[in-house]
Amino acid sequence: MSESSQTEIVIAPVGFEHLRQVLDLGYRVFDTTVKPYTSWSLTAVAEHLDSGDSACWVALDGTAVVGFVLGSQTFELRDDWGYLEWIAVDPAYQGRGIAGRLVDSCCEALFAGGASRVVTDVESSNSASATLMARNGFAPAVTVTLFVRSSQPDEEPGRAVRGVSKRPLIRSGRLLGDHRNP
Ligand SMILES: CC(C)(COP(=O)(O)OP(=O)(O)OC[C@H]1O[C@@H](n2cnc3c(N)ncnc32)[C@H](O)[C@@H]1OP(=O)(O)O)[C@@H](O)C(=O)NCCC(=O)NCCS
Repeated sequence: MSESSQTEIVIAPVGFEHLRQVLDLGYRVFDTTVKPYTSWSLTAVAEHLDSGDSACWVALDGTAVVGFVLGSQTFELRDDWGYLEWIAVDPAYQGRGIAGRLVDSCCEALFAGGASRVVTDVESSNSASATLMARNGFAPAVTVTLFVRSSQPDEEPGRAVRGVSKRPLIRSGRLLGDHRNP
């Protein structure tokens, strides 16, 4: 951590100049095996930049990206719900309220863009993320449990979901190119 980080972390709109650092930080902190239908990739970041939505922010220590949030103005088929999709803070900077500031910036932008709700999905074992959301105005609404049946009857069910996606660059339902009608 640099000396400047003791005094000022700036929250700024994400730009193309941040792309590489955002991607690298995500690879360091996200465990996408717990939600095996999602994938962290260049595409996941780039489509947010492409969309022109203003709900994507970085936390900067000087020019170093130490956190980010990626939000979008729609959630699945709901045009009236914003989606706070990805959030991360560099482990060396966690516990200092940076994620809370990123959540606020993202939600303010989504509400200003017309969202009546902002939703986010938290994996059940991610207590840091659940606490972050609970402390920042989110309340649990709907719980969805991924039930899994394996093709191998003797296989432990949890193992069956830890595979590599056949379409690692396509996020379910939110990318053009997934052959769903708009
Ligand atoms: C979740 C994450 C973004 C939180 O970042 P952070 O900057 O440390 O969060 P903040 O400092 O703003 O803390 C927000 C609240 O969450 C709490 N919190 C943070 N980490 C926690 C943990 N590991 N366990 C329990 N509570 C935690 C803080 O105490 C704080 O609550 P408080 O206001 O009552 O003190 C960070 O842990 C992270 O990057 N995790 C890996 C990526 C991830 O899982 N992202 C979410 C899925 S996309």
